[in-house]
Amino acid sequence: MKEHTIKLTILKTLAEGGFHSGEELGEQFGVSRAAISKHIKGIQEWGVDIYRVQGKGYQLAQPMQLLDEKVLSAQFGALVELIPVIDSTNQYLLDKVDSLESGAVCVAEYQAKGRGRRGREWVSPFGANLYMSMFWRLDAGMAAAMGLSLVVGVAIVEALEKLGLEGVKLKWPNDLYYQDRKLAGILVEMSGQAGAAANLVIGTGMNLMMAEQTEGITQPWASLKEVAGTDSIDRNKLAISLITALHNALTDYELYGMRGFVERWNRLDNFLDRPIKLIMGPREITGICRGINEQGAVLLETENGVESFIGGEISLRDNAN
Ligand code: ATP
Ligand code: BTN
Repeated sequence: MKEHTIKLTILKTLAEGGFHSGEELGEQFGVSRAAISKHIKGIQEWGVDIYRVQGKGYQLAQPMQLLDEKVLSAQFGALVELIPVIDSTNQYLLDKVDSLESGAVCVAEYQAKGRGRRGREWVSPFGANLYMSMFWRLDAGMAAAMGLSLVVGVAIVEALEKLGLEGVKLKWPNDLYYQDRKLAGILVEMSGQAGAAANLVIGTGMNLMMAEQTEGITQPWASLKEVAGTDSIDRNKLAISLITALHNALTDYELYGMRGFVERWNRLDNFLDRPIKLIMGPREITGICRGINEQGAVLLETENGVESFIGGEISLRDNAN
């Protein structure tokens, strides 16, 4: 059997609900109860909360709806690949950009090495959230990539609104926020040469129903279940909506660039008219956030007037006292 097949099949059984004894699971795979217990430990290391009751067996602490390759491929065909356990969906696509067509997607249930900007870790427990990346070849080249990453953020929030999920905002350049906590992050990575077409990989990690006790996150975070007001989010439907929104946004961006985009961003800017600071290496500038301009730069009002700032090395932070 493939490396994770037993663990994934155990999870499928547990996701059906109820208790499942080590004996029953062992019989299913022709392995001992001790082997099952080892697999359960491995699953727990993926961040899944499983408990065991003497005489009854194992049960998931929270219900889990797994992503379904059949549902995804009925919608997108071979363009979407579900790889339940992976290092990083971004890395997976970056490793094979030469053989991909624009719109190719990789979705995962768990990332062992999920990453954020500047090599920071993206905490990616199994089955709780959404981790996906899309490949896009941008003929306009690398210079156009900054604007594109803002467009993607807006497209995702607007897609959530269409699903009736209101109140999600944006933090420049590409985080989604809910009630001042981080709900999702977007990571655009690229390969290619200056002057040539850019091979872009656009990764999105969105928290859906992450356990409160999840460790390793160094800032306040939120889950989509809070926005939805319910635990029962259909992960397959959501993945389909977000993939569709992303595909449409990238197609539009190639045709129209940032035209008409500033207003769409500013409506959703979490920090619009609020005090912020911009951190650029050792330098910090404080002022009032005034949204973005047509180039996708963040606008900061200081005593010198409104100035624009752009570049991947800038971090925006709340500066309320
Ligand atoms: P910047 O503005 O510099 O991008 P950032 O705080 O958004 O700042 P990122 O590198 O974009 O930083 O994202 C990494 C941050 O996200 C780290 O603080 C990390 O702890 C946090 N983080 C990691 N996993 C998650 C998650 N699943 N949900 C929310 N936040 C997370
Ligand atoms: C950030 O806010 O720093 C961006 C986080 C991006 C996380 C996603 S999850 C899917 C894709 N694969 C990764 O390794 N990272 C991105």
